[in-house]
Amino acid sequence: MAMVCLSDFEAYAKKYLPKIAWDFFAAGADDCSTRDENILAYKRIHFRPRMLRDVSMMDIRTKLLGTEISFPVGIAPTGFHQLAWPDGEKSTARAAKAMNICYIASTYSTCTLEEISAAAPGSLRWFQLYIHRNRAVSQQLVQQAEALGFQGLVLTADLPYTGKRRDDVRNGFRLPPHICLRDTDDRSEYGLPPNSLDPSVTWNDIYWLRSLTHLPIIIKGILTKEDAELAVSHGVQGIIVSNHGGRQLDGGPATIDALVEVVEAVQGRVEVYLDGGIRKGSDVLKALALGAKCVFIGRPALWGLAYKQFHSGVTNSSEVHVELDAADV
Ligand code: FNR
Repeated sequence: MAMVCLSDFEAYAKKYLPKIAWDFFAAGADDCSTRDENILAYKRIHFRPRMLRDVSMMDIRTKLLGTEISFPVGIAPTGFHQLAWPDGEKSTARAAKAMNICYIASTYSTCTLEEISAAAPGSLRWFQLYIHRNRAVSQQLVQQAEALGFQGLVLTADLPYTGKRRDDVRNGFRLPPHICLRDTDDRSEYGLPPNSLDPSVTWNDIYWLRSLTHLPIIIKGILTKEDAELAVSHGVQGIIVSNHGGRQLDGGPATIDALVEVVEAVQGRVEVYLDGGIRKGSDVLKALALGAKCVFIGRPALWGLAYKQFHSGVTNSSEVHVELDAADV
């Protein structure tokens, strides 16, 4: 079958991934209204198209904090890529390098930061941080990322606790034993409580991060003008308007709807990006027209990894089902 749009990859991933992995990737918090709203909101925004503008030459390159990328789409941080493809985040990093775009590697990567760097040397990579209760773990990750050539530090602000994703609860989602977070050996989030992440993080922790690294700090998960102003006044270099793909607080706004007030508050003082619900080129265009410098995609990259796995014939879906069943995931 010809794959002509991201929905085709979504359908493919849904068909072939084990249900438990598909459900984890697809999940939104509670009844998923914010997850779905991220997509629906684009359909309510219409262009005012102008004509006869000589579009024979088009240049869609842009810069992220001074580094040129080929087009204004990047890969948002998502965890557990090995659930979709055995090479996990190494493949994602290679793909981003081939496209000359930015890949944000998650704290919840199933490959080490060293492996990710080695897979895509010289590429534009940022590291996404969740702050651990044990601050030494976070300090070590930040400093390792900087030493390995990651060029930005993305602090995710919207996950003091993990949102209630009903299918994950029903499925008893846990990582299978052959997949783990190898940099931190952290299983608590998807194993036993207590959660290893620190819910007491505040704006003051930006100063702590600043003391650890020279990397630009980008804050992810901002949805209001008040928090945008706080982000700027605490010295961050970038803001990602994001609601975590609707996986955290259900009932919040679609990110494209929140973008306008953030852009207005920031007044060009820092770069503003957006993720959530981007599924086609016209979505990207709407976000750029409303003031985003670049957008990021989360789930679609995971569907791409799943397609790579099953389409390449490396694994067939029944083998993965058996493996995951055996792991009692
Ligand atoms: C995420 N997201 C996320 N964000 C983050 O900062 N760190 C992480 O580890 C993860 N993990 C994660 C796993 C999965 C399976 C999903 C779907 C999402 C949120 C992600 O960065 C991004 O905000 C959303 O995925 C964007 O929405 P779309 O593109 O998936 O609609």
